[in-house]
Amino acid sequence: MNNSIKKMKSIALHLGALTLLSVAQISSAATAKEGEVAYMKNGCWQCHGTVGQGGIAGLKLAPNPKPLAYFNAFIRNTVGPMPPYSEKILSTQDLAHIHAYLESIPAAPDPKNLPLLQVK
Ligand code: HEC
Repeated sequence: MNNSIKKMKSIALHLGALTLLSVAQISSAATAKEGEVAYMKNGCWQCHGTVGQGGIAGLKLAPNPKPLAYFNAFIRNTVGPMPPYSEKILSTQDLAHIHAYLESIPAAPDPKNLPLLQVK
């Protein structure tokens, strides 16, 4: 194989990898968006707050939600103050989307770095 063909092959491979990467990014944004819809539709926000901040009736869920496996186990089986959600009410896919939504929520900024709060 001559060099220019090698070069073209490598460029094509890199472009392919870049496309895959951006598709993954777009689909994770879409998943978080679907998760936000499911989070609102299933009433999680009523106790946990619209961005998972907690403090209403439920605990804080975001930022840095506990692992998806924990969510699955807790939400399906809880016998505490939170009502359990069976697969019939909340599909496993929607639950994963909700988890992706909560993962997409950024941490609040440090008040020390907020210009408005700086005393001059
Ligand atoms: C009626 C109020 C209410 C609703 C609605 C509700 N939760 Fe909760 N949730 C709670 C309370 C209260 C707790 C703490 C319960 C406990 O420790 O047994 C909790 C705990 C949790 C926990 C465990 C948190 C931890 O750190 O251990 C997760 C995860 C969770 N909720 C997710 C959800 C999701 C997702 C939804 C929507 C599908 C939802 N909750 C809907 C009240 C609610």
